[in-house]
Amino acid sequence: TTVRLSEYTPPAYLIDEIALVFSLEPEATLVAARSHVRCTGDTPAPLVLNGERLELQSIAIDGALLTTDKYELEPGKLIILDPPVQFRLDIVTRISPATNTHLDGLYMSGGRFCTQCEAEGFRAITYMLDRPDVLARYAVRIEANKAAYPTLLSNGNKTESGDMENGRHFAVWVDPHPKPSYLFALCAGKYESIHDAFVTKGGRNVALGIYVDPGDSERARYAMDALKRSMKWDEDTFQREYDLDVFNIVAVRDFNFGAMENKGLNIFNSSLILADAETATDADFEAIEAVVGHEYFHNWTGNRITCRDWFQLCLKEGLTVYREQEFSADQRSRPVQRIKDVKRLRARQFGEDAGPLAHAVRPSSYQKIDNFYTATVYEKGGEVIRMLKRLIGKDAFERGMQLYFERRDGTASTVEDFIGCFEETAGRKLDDFMRWYDQAGTPALKVHGDYDAAAKTYHLTVSQRTAPTPGQTSKHALPIPLQVGFIAPDGAIIAGKAEGDDIARTEHHLVLNDAQRTFRFSGVLEEPIPTVLRGFSAPVTLDQNLTIKQRLAQIAHDPDPFTRWEAGQAIARGVLLGEAPEAAPALAEALGRELDRAQQDPAFAALALRLPDLNELLLAAEDPDPEALHISRETLRRAIASKLRDRLLPIASTPSETPFSPGADAAGRRSLKAAALDLLAALGPELGETFVTVFDGAQSMTEAMAALDALGASGSDKFDAALTRFYERWRANPLVIDKWFAVQAASPRDNALDRAERLRTHAEFNTRNPNRVRALAAAFAMRNPRAFHERDGGGYRFLAALAQDIDPHNPALAARLLTPFESWKRFDASRQAHARAALEHLAALPTLSKNTREMVERTLA
Ligand code: ARG
Ligand code: ZN
Repeated sequence: TTVRLSEYTPPAYLIDEIALVFSLEPEATLVAARSHVRCTGDTPAPLVLNGERLELQSIAIDGALLTTDKYELEPGKLIILDPPVQFRLDIVTRISPATNTHLDGLYMSGGRFCTQCEAEGFRAITYMLDRPDVLARYAVRIEANKAAYPTLLSNGNKTESGDMENGRHFAVWVDPHPKPSYLFALCAGKYESIHDAFVTKGGRNVALGIYVDPGDSERARYAMDALKRSMKWDEDTFQREYDLDVFNIVAVRDFNFGAMENKGLNIFNSSLILADAETATDADFEAIEAVVGHEYFHNWTGNRITCRDWFQLCLKEGLTVYREQEFSADQRSRPVQRIKDVKRLRARQFGEDAGPLAHAVRPSSYQKIDNFYTATVYEKGGEVIRMLKRLIGKDAFERGMQLYFERRDGTASTVEDFIGCFEETAGRKLDDFMRWYDQAGTPALKVHGDYDAAAKTYHLTVSQRTAPTPGQTSKHALPIPLQVGFIAPDGAIIAGKAEGDDIARTEHHLVLNDAQRTFRFSGVLEEPIPTVLRGFSAPVTLDQNLTIKQRLAQIAHDPDPFTRWEAGQAIARGVLLGEAPEAAPALAEALGRELDRAQQDPAFAALALRLPDLNELLLAAEDPDPEALHISRETLRRAIASKLRDRLLPIASTPSETPFSPGADAAGRRSLKAAALDLLAALGPELGETFVTVFDGAQSMTEAMAALDALGASGSDKFDAALTRFYERWRANPLVIDKWFAVQAASPRDNALDRAERLRTHAEFNTRNPNRVRALAAAFAMRNPRAFHERDGGGYRFLAALAQDIDPHNPALAARLLTPFESWKRFDASRQAHARAALEHLAALPTLSKNTREMVERTLA
């Protein structure tokens, strides 16, 4: 059954109020739901409620029990045949959270109850109109054994609590804000918690709490700090204030995703809450700050204004990713943040757009919406917002956001509703811009420049083309914002007057609206080196045909940091893809100059020192040969490392800074140290002793992991001993043991597949814990492409077998593990045959879940 955007119909019934009573027992929880239901039309139709994996105990309408002839139970549905137009509906269901391995609906993790309802998990709790355009006010009474489950949490404010008979107790939570069922949450169990407060601009005193496993609370301090900074930032930047007296976060060990924005009760994967110097890397701290922000920002973009249907997912996700990225940029270094965002987009989204799983930011059909929580919806969705701002200008964008918050508050909205606000504030139609939402694929830009020295004019011709994607054979031209600037070979800024502009400028904000266009500039005093995509102004690929010399000038002089970084990456790509192998020495020199100025911005220098990764090269190459590309990448890295060795060694050996600070400056210095270690690893095992010294002296997880990575990548025989020491030290901390799995699975050593197979049979490998599964599967298939694409297909079979193991108990997780197969059609016939066989083996399993089947079929199609 395919769901289509074009087939959306408004709900025939609404539920305005719902009172839930949970009597919690691990294997037999009773859920009593009392809803106030009303028909929206005048001809009452059967009421169809969603429900999965439920044991129906009773149904009553206005207090009268329904006999079995008055309703029907179908797979996934409860149909009440002939309901009144308005009534009170009482439904009691029984569920078994302890045996719910899907990790959606109500389940147990580490002996505690928790929920995950987005997108369609609420229907595994009770029968409900489980769709985002049905908004209800929730009142929730939770009853449980007091000793086993002392803390009882749900959305909104706690209005009542007390003791009951038989050692049980209860709490009542009331959420005054109408919300869709996917934002419902409940947590119950024994926690340790930390508390703080935030006073909003309007004077509301908000009690903040973070609930974690006993023993973990000190490691939640950074998340609390990030939460308070998020609340302040949203007030200062978007004038958004929090709207309840309580904001709680609960950390859960077994969680399918990163985190969830349930109203007033965010639930997080514990990996995105817990951090301290010894157990978390700087990347973890950064991710915690970003995701705490992201979930908090959803309170306005997602919760107050939600989605009409799941096709509009980007309405909340793309916008919230954009807000989260802006927050991170303001908290840290804006240019460094931009480069990291672009790296992530290219690594995750460009490959998706280029393969069989390509879909629009707003997809037009799905089988399981779970499979569309993708880099395209999130990351490209964020880029679309950033482009909107560029295209209509900061002022119209900001006024449009405020208009959106006012006008759409309390509604379930569409992308059209959102864009409509900006049409008003910008005073023009944005129909052409809407194509960014509905057309899949990454536009490829080609640029050609012509300088007329006599006339002092410069013509910049830019064309765009988007390759066909599944279901979309012909593509339109998109409005592509170009941020253009010119420099001279010596670095001087060259101004010019763009046609239609009234003055000469040093930077031009242009828009490519057509398949091809020539932009004309006058008063250009010397032949310029053009940059057309400063700040990565659009999510496109760019064929710019610059010479090595021109790119070196950009690295040295372009005023835009993104361009400086990108120019180095472009030279490296040229060397590695065999287009300009002669540029290797010049690249090494340029990176040497980055080291000279590294003290000014170590985080930037660290990014510059990292060559494009193997996945990026596999995507850019004509006929990608993973082994050959790996070798050429290592050869280039070795050449650079030997040249810079004497300067990299002292950086790599810098003692850890104490006391530890998670801030951007100290993290930037550590990232430079890590980049130095990474490059030095290309010299092979000879520096093994150095890496061991760094590992043993590391006072932070960032440095320990960087040293461990280097031991792995260098082929050193000291890798295993270091791994053993690491394991012994951290065996009690599951989040660190995840890193132990990941560092091995991602290590580009010979026999990586054997190691992955051994890890899979390790006593601590556990297919029930998504973090552990991803530590092995995603680290192997996404971070170790050389092993994943191993010639004999072993890597493909490994990933498919893991998915097969996991599918019966956790379909959402299994399906998403298969994402790395998205690239399979780019490889040679023999690899394709192996990938196809692995996928077809899955397709032939009669009991494969709907989630995984959809992924397999789309990938094969
Ligand atoms: N809304 C959550 C977030 O972006 C993610 C929910 C994931 N759910 C899913 N079915 N994939 O913060
Ligand atoms: Zn989100």
